[in-house]
Amino acid sequence: MPDSSNNNVVEYRAFTLDDIPAAHALSASVKWRHRADDWRFAARLGDGLAAVDPAGALVGTALAFPFGANAATLGMFIVSPEHQRQGIGRALLDRLTAKLGSRTLLIHASNEGRPLCEQRGFTRIDTIQQHQGAAFQPPLVSLPPGERLRPIGAKDTPRLAELASRASGLDRSALLPQLLDVASGIALDRDGELIGFALFRRFGDGHVIGPVIAPESPDQSRAKALISYWLALNAGMFVRVDTPLRYGLSSWLEGLGLPLVDTIEQMALNGVPAADATLTQFALTSQAVW
Ligand SMILES: CC(C)(COP(=O)(O)OP(=O)(O)OC[C@H]1O[C@@H](n2cnc3c(N)ncnc32)[C@H](O)[C@@H]1OP(=O)(O)O)[C@@H](O)C(=O)NCCC(=O)NCCS
Repeated sequence: MPDSSNNNVVEYRAFTLDDIPAAHALSASVKWRHRADDWRFAARLGDGLAAVDPAGALVGTALAFPFGANAATLGMFIVSPEHQRQGIGRALLDRLTAKLGSRTLLIHASNEGRPLCEQRGFTRIDTIQQHQGAAFQPPLVSLPPGERLRPIGAKDTPRLAELASRASGLDRSALLPQLLDVASGIALDRDGELIGFALFRRFGDGHVIGPVIAPESPDQSRAKALISYWLALNAGMFVRVDTPLRYGLSSWLEGLGLPLVDTIEQMALNGVPAADATLTQFALTSQAVW
């Protein structure tokens, strides 16, 4: 529908897979490193809105990723630099959140997006520390007695979805199978029971380690062992890890040759998901889907 609050008349309609080439150019215009494949992955998981100018060109996007009936994450929220500060971002956010009703909504808010999120009632949960670089050979990390790393297999998928759901408080049963189509995984096993895991996949112009999920341990040795596994296998490759500040992994990652390159605020509206306190998600899947 037309929105005359903008300098030009912009229309808002459903985002479709046909928008991906233009959306990819849009994300590149704000220096996001997503590939067209990263957009395809996001667009298959979620749905959202496209803002188009009178000539039909894509000038803004915002997607929502529902996890169960009560929560959703928001992401891929972009307005082209030439069209910013004209109310398009606000219109996209308002239309998207109106469709999501009273769900708990989660967003990673950039410096540009945060004032708008705050105006709409989102409050801060934590800060994400984005580390990336070409890692050196990581040290060997000792695990607690009885624990070891092992490859994941096809029959582990339900358990991985269960752990991911408990750690995040979000229903990850649809996410995990889609992630496992494009990711490799390593499991943390304690006496034959799978208690944690880390996935590794292509993302942007490199790879991402995430999600990383395990129970907390002294010195976070479980998270470090899971991350180190992927770094050791990919020494010298461009790797990214997005980790919440409160778990204290940042200086360890810096020491491995993955500098802190950015921070972004985690924000929530309508409460926060009820996560299982005995499990922790140490690294994001991505900023869009948490
Ligand atoms: C964040 C973004 C989507 C906002 O889009 P937009 O169309 O420019 O936003 P609006 O014009 O609707 O602005 C709404 C309000 O947000 C705030 N805001 C927008 N851009 C801002 C900026 N660069 N710095 C500080 N505040 C900003 C202002 O309060 C603004 O209201 P005002 O113009 O009346 O003062 C856009 O800046 C963008 O694409 N940035 C790059 C990608 C990004 O950071 N995405 C956000 C992830 S949460």
